Amino acid sequence: MTEIPQERRVVTAIPGPKSLELQARRTASVAAGVGSTMPVFAERAGGGVLEDVDGNRLIDFGSGIAVTTVGSSAEAVVRRASAQLADFTHTCFMVTPYEEYVAVCEELAALTPGDHAKKSALFNSGAEAVENAVKIARSHTGRQAVVVFDHAYHGRTNLTMALTAKNMPYKNGFGPFAPEVYRVPMAYPYRWPTGAENCGPEASAQAIDQISKQVGAQNVAAIIIEPVLGEGGFIEPAKGFLPALARFARENGIVFVADEIQSGFCRTGQWFACEDEGIVPDLITTAKGIAGGLPLAAVTGRAEIMDSAHPSGLGGTYGGNPVACAAALGAIETMRELDLPAKARRIGEIMKGRLSAMREKYDVIGDVRGRGAMIAIELVKDQATKEPAPEAASALAKACHREGLLVLTCGTYGNVLRFLPPLVIGEDLLGEGLDIIEQALAAL
Ligand SMILES: Cc1ncc(COP(=O)(O)O)c(C=O)c1O
Repeated sequence: MTEIPQERRVVTAIPGPKSLELQARRTASVAAGVGSTMPVFAERAGGGVLEDVDGNRLIDFGSGIAVTTVGSSAEAVVRRASAQLADFTHTCFMVTPYEEYVAVCEELAALTPGDHAKKSALFNSGAEAVENAVKIARSHTGRQAVVVFDHAYHGRTNLTMALTAKNMPYKNGFGPFAPEVYRVPMAYPYRWPTGAENCGPEASAQAIDQISKQVGAQNVAAIIIEPVLGEGGFIEPAKGFLPALARFARENGIVFVADEIQSGFCRTGQWFACEDEGIVPDLITTAKGIAGGLPLAAVTGRAEIMDSAHPSGLGGTYGGNPVACAAALGAIETMRELDLPAKARRIGEIMKGRLSAMREKYDVIGDVRGRGAMIAIELVKDQATKEPAPEAASALAKACHREGLLVLTCGTYGNVLRFLPPLVIGEDLLGEGLDIIEQALAAL
């Protein structure tokens, strides 16, 4: 395990000379379409700190986009994955199976909401899990249509590009996209025209009306929704919206899919974000936090739905790789031992308290939202007009980066600064990161 001092240290300009050298090699050899938030090359990482090749230590408010929930070198992840590496790297579960895959599916059945019989299938990436959820829902229902929402993000493969709302950078020029995908309104409280208090009931009525009138409920295989939206801007759907859609799905034989790829595995202060409103999805997609940084994803759900795809209809050469499965068992062990849902709630309390106070002081912060360690501020020209301010988000992010705080942006309008610290970050680092954000706001 990497023992890295849990302190920020800035010893060169950021990026430093070694990062700049690597950046030149990268520009010559890596396709331009693959972006990076910071041109800083990582050397090692652990806890709440990422050390670059120049010896700078950054406070990590990104977790590799909500992946390293248990830290980037958690002891149990490293121990179990290393032992598995030494045993064997791969057999292909579709050729000769192994226990680790089964053990991960057992954990998923135990941890996801609902006490019904559940089964899982494992894949490599979030997008692949979402694609397979659609395959399973179509097999189960014999229907084709898939309903998704404004501001949704579900991945970069062809079908998941179609499911994703935002054009730039995810879709532009990459069409044609998969058919039978229908988009309906999202309950976005901050921007709901008649006010946040009306948002839940009005948005669900509009969404259900559009599905009924424009698609026909009897044609819909799946409704796919992020219980807290990720790339779309950390939008928490207004209360009542998710339950109304889940009820509508149940009444019409539609498979209700919660995409918890970003919000799942303790991130929002529960094991899964849909628990907050007591939602029991038919299928749930997971990835990111599941395996402490190794590539693993899953579809978990009602056994009778999961079993509706014909034998050998699901799979993939690497899906549920044994090293990734061993890492997942280590990550889950860590989450339980350290009670990371409680840790996420504590992070949320601290961050929301500080950021809400900043909103009182700085007109550029329109909204502070999110749950647990999935927190964001939406930046606007001013609080009265709520006009999105993407340039403020970008300037703030850059100012934080220069000071050694790794933050990410997101949002349909590019005006959201999002915070996703590892749940094992120390409170001193958390506070220091928030100080840097406040200084950047003051200097804006
Ligand atoms: C909610 C959600 N779904 C799907 C994906 C796609 O996951 P991956 O990048 O592993 O394909 C993401 C990734 O950000 C996500 O946040």
